[in-house]
Amino acid sequence: MSRDEPLVLGIETSCDETGVGIVRGHTLLADAVASSVDEHARFGGVVPEVASRAHLEAMVPTIERACETAGVALTDLDAISVTNGPGLAGALLVGVAAAKALALGLGKPLYGVNHLASHVAVDQLEHGALPEPCVAMLVSGGHSSLLRVTDVTGVGDGTPEGAGVVSMGATIDDAAGEAFDKVARVLGLPFPGGPHIDKAAREGSQVAIDFPRGLTSRRDLERHRFDYSFSGLKTAVARWVEARERSGEPVPVADVAASFQEAVCDVLVRKALDAASSEGIEDLLIGGGVAANSRLRYLAEERAASLGIRVRVPRPGLCTDNGAMVAALGAEMVARDRVPSSLDLPADSSLPVTDVLAG
Ligand code: KG4
Ligand code: ZN
Repeated sequence: MSRDEPLVLGIETSCDETGVGIVRGHTLLADAVASSVDEHARFGGVVPEVASRAHLEAMVPTIERACETAGVALTDLDAISVTNGPGLAGALLVGVAAAKALALGLGKPLYGVNHLASHVAVDQLEHGALPEPCVAMLVSGGHSSLLRVTDVTGVGDGTPEGAGVVSMGATIDDAAGEAFDKVARVLGLPFPGGPHIDKAAREGSQVAIDFPRGLTSRRDLERHRFDYSFSGLKTAVARWVEARERSGEPVPVADVAASFQEAVCDVLVRKALDAASSEGIEDLLIGGGVAANSRLRYLAEERAASLGIRVRVPRPGLCTDNGAMVAALGAEMVARDRVPSSLDLPADSSLPVTDVLAG
């Protein structure tokens, strides 16, 4: 096997996307994704049991599709990697079982990797070797985290504070994408709401309504400098819309969408740049489904430039959950000579971010 350019297949099933990606080093060869999002739409959120069953049905065809696109046979692979957490327990199990079966059947090394670190590693497929150290802001339907990444494979100096991937802050209630989805529902927009709010906001005014910025008061900053909170904002939007409806006035959907989006993006960017500045780090990486948001990208780039901080955002298809990100981190494990996971590695729905590679 080539250590610099290993051929790795990655499997991702932590939420509602069955992702199978194949990479050779930093080169993306295939990124097959089967999403069960349509099956969850009528519930307004992901239903774990529906997701698990969909993964089971999609797994083999998605692996076949990835191999076909990449033009490789399973026997050509150097290693298999799989998300072993965090995520929905039943959904993770399907991917982990499939990866173990492949690794055992093919006699290839297996790497059980952390979903969050995979969101960071994926950027290598688009922009080349990761800037380390960097601060990563991961914002999706399931997570809102600020990470300090000194080694994306997780190897640090042996102390909890000195781990390769460390959490600097996270949401204390809803994830950013969850807030987009819930506010979209209040506005009568389809699920998942993020892209619809993004679109509606283009016709509205960001300053029409002054919605709250969570955890930004001086008192909150003392305890939660790099943490997020979106539940108060979500409630504020719902109350505002209800009051409008009660008074019989039409709801200005575009203005509500733009003002809500501004409140989320303002806080996300402000805290991410504060995190980078506080560590003297000059690179900010943004990942997760919400990274597709046009206002978030704009604000991040505009404000970072004035601080001399560089921003890297993978293209939208690589920001949402996919198998290529897991393959990318797996390839990095091989390239950096990390010890493969054991074949009895567990799926862990609440895997800490510092546990990048399963033992
Ligand atoms: O990473 P992802 O595909 O799945 C996980 O949740 O892990 O992220 C999906 C989330 C959804 O909440 C969706 O509404 C949000 O990302 N999203 C967006 C945009 N595109 C997707 N949020 C804001 N603006 C967007 N353009
Ligand atoms: Zn994710």
